[in-house]
Amino acid sequence: MKINNSSIKKSINYLKNNECIGIPTETVYGLAANAYSSSAVSKVFKLKKRPKKNPLIVHYYSKSQLERDCHLNKNFYKLYKKFCPGPLTFILRLKNNSMIDNKVTNKKKSLAVRFPKHPVIRSLLNKIDFPLAAPSANISSSISPVTKNDVIDEFGKKIKYVLNGGRSNIGLESTIIDLTSKPKIIRLGGLNLEYLKKILNVRLNYNSDTKRDYPGQRRLHYSPGIPIRLNIKDPKKNSAYILINKKKFTSKNFFYLTKNKNLEEAGKNLYKILRKIKKRKFKLIEVEKIPNIGIGRTINDRLQRASIK
Ligand code: TXA
Ligand code: MG
Repeated sequence: MKINNSSIKKSINYLKNNECIGIPTETVYGLAANAYSSSAVSKVFKLKKRPKKNPLIVHYYSKSQLERDCHLNKNFYKLYKKFCPGPLTFILRLKNNSMIDNKVTNKKKSLAVRFPKHPVIRSLLNKIDFPLAAPSANISSSISPVTKNDVIDEFGKKIKYVLNGGRSNIGLESTIIDLTSKPKIIRLGGLNLEYLKKILNVRLNYNSDTKRDYPGQRRLHYSPGIPIRLNIKDPKKNSAYILINKKKFTSKNFFYLTKNKNLEEAGKNLYKILRKIKKRKFKLIEVEKIPNIGIGRTINDRLQRASIK
């Protein structure tokens, strides 16, 4: 996608004036604010209706910017070299003299950081001297946005500006790894767990016990506000049916995540399809079984969390 310099300039002006704006990333769109500014960060929580105890991810251009705010360690360097910029978020120890506003971390001593790969947001980050706190640009617990229009769909006129970057290429949030002690995955995401394990060369388990220790990983999330039933072979007549295996017959209630069993493609389409189904006012969503491998694990994680009643 071509970078439009005047829209980047406009975005920077808003950010310098402590406003929050929508930004594109390769995972999902974010609601961004200057992470060093107390008033800007407050606006993010308010707009999103986000509980104060749920901390934000901060986006940096490079690790040299990050050194001001966090203690970096060996595992971080290893993963940074291999996967950054990209869909990986690190939890690191915050420095005592860090300038990050303390609402970002809910006064905790750790910070979630990420280096997004999308060329539009990289170009913006390279031109500012503060990092961007940016949770996904949706009202808390709703579906994450993957286009500029999705962000407008969520916030309407309440948001001043959305920087356009086309459709998010990955379409699922970043994978989160806690590096403050023994490496631990705390959210499955757009980066395949198997690659991560190989590079770190450690056992990396991910299970629901881990989730319990982190506030942001517990609640109902990613939800279209419609009941969802998983692993369904024979859908009911009036439900929206999300599927990945080509059927001999077709129906206007069928929503294919992928046409050729490609799980990356399925991940990219998931939130777009959930939003479409929500707009068409279905009363029930049913989902075909999705293989629990690679990005399929992330898709299943999101669907499970969207389906909690
Ligand atoms: O792909 C992404 O990560 C997107 C794009 C915009 O970068 N951002 C995103 O942010 O998904 P959000 O706020 O929707 O999810 C951030 C998650 C939350 O579940 C939060 O609880 C967790 O990260 N988190 C943030 N700081 C943390 C910390 N210090 N310790 C543990 N978890 C943290
Ligand atoms: Mg989110």
